[in-house]
Amino acid sequence: MTTVITYGTYDVMHYGHIRLLERAKELGDYLIVGVTADDFDKTRGKINVQQSLMERIENVRATGLADKIIVEEYEGQKIDDIHRYNVDIFTVGSDWKGHFDYLKEYCKVVYLDRTQGISSTEIRSENSSLKLGLVGEISIVDKFYKESQYVNGLEIAGICTQNESIFEKYKDTIFVTTEYSTLLEKCDAVYIVSHPTKHYEQIKEALNNNIHVLCESPIALTEKQCRELFSIANAKNLTLMDSIKTAYATAFARLLLILKGGVIGKILSIDATCTSLADLDDEKVMKNKWNSITDWGPTALLPVFRILGTKWKDVKISSLMLDKFNDFDLFSRISFEYENAIATLKVGVGVKSEGELIISGTQGYIYVPAPWWKTDYFEIRYEDQSKNRRYFYQLDGEGIRYELVAFLKSIKQQNTYKYISEDISFNISRIMEEFSENKSIICNG
Ligand code: CTP
Repeated sequence: MTTVITYGTYDVMHYGHIRLLERAKELGDYLIVGVTADDFDKTRGKINVQQSLMERIENVRATGLADKIIVEEYEGQKIDDIHRYNVDIFTVGSDWKGHFDYLKEYCKVVYLDRTQGISSTEIRSENSSLKLGLVGEISIVDKFYKESQYVNGLEIAGICTQNESIFEKYKDTIFVTTEYSTLLEKCDAVYIVSHPTKHYEQIKEALNNNIHVLCESPIALTEKQCRELFSIANAKNLTLMDSIKTAYATAFARLLLILKGGVIGKILSIDATCTSLADLDDEKVMKNKWNSITDWGPTALLPVFRILGTKWKDVKISSLMLDKFNDFDLFSRISFEYENAIATLKVGVGVKSEGELIISGTQGYIYVPAPWWKTDYFEIRYEDQSKNRRYFYQLDGEGIRYELVAFLKSIKQQNTYKYISEDISFNISRIMEEFSENKSIICNG
């Protein structure tokens, strides 16, 4: 008996896939098809696969061509599989020509001609080509522009900015304007990273023009405004999403899942610090700078709200203010009291500190080293160090590309797919409000 094995993603199944499987089957008597798991695909750069692993397995099963279906989960698995299943022939499409020659040591390798004129990438792009506008004055606009290239089904329709250098940089490449309403005419969706004081008005205008919104958190500076914006979005079936990159990092998502398994016992405390430097003497830059609570607050609040929930009993915000720029907190400490836990967050712009995250429990703690908001690594630590565990997950593009994929998915699934719940968005805005109304000012510099 000749055993043949082939691997693929098999997203939005098309006749190129079917022809490949037919020919693979003809090479032998028994065909094994390896379907790549979502995480493994991410590491290969396929980040917006549209169908889930189960659906993709079902696509292959439905062809009736596979005698066995397996899941490909890790680097190096192909060699293991060849040994395990006594494989005689490994085959894939000619787009991979040469790439798998190293397997010749273990079995015969056959590259089959790829069917011209069709691919999952093309189908995904046709299904949803979203025109995204970028709005804002800071360099993250640049990062979003670059990261959008990794996400198919999305094109950048233009940029609205008051920042001259961003304007100059892009004016010969794409549509750039200083008029927000002009950009809205060209878009289905916008990513907003303008100053937080502008968010509410800009989001409202976009939603009223039936445009989906991804906004760098906080969405609004009061809870009432935030609720109003979500009620407009929901009534119109539009996606409104807080943009916090950390929420989309695989390691952060895994950390939350692992915690749910009770690995550190009862969670009693969360400590998180986020800081960045700023040139406090540069008046021009500082005019557009986000203060510490808006710049870092939402990111620092994310693990607290995701792990301890949003039913906190009390919050106290203490700030060192820098009065020469309007309402600018150089450093703020946010202290939460929950029924059975506490949390302390420190955020700062124009100051540098150790940016770590520590989640303490009755049996052990989780340690995420600086900069924890770009999580790719964390440890579970115990008193008995031999039980410690380390976890690493690749993070590409600071999470931006995953965030764009999540935004697209939410739009496609009509707003039912959410990483950051509305409740968390309301609470983030509520903390922004607490800051302006109830902060205890430690000093005015
Ligand atoms: N394949 C093929 N002809 C095509 C498309 C794919 O022969 N037109 C083959 C690939 O070479 C691979 C298998 O089908 O052996 C599974 O491919 P997969 O990566 O799942 O599909 P693509 O359409 O190439 O996906 P993408 O556009 O995301 O790269």
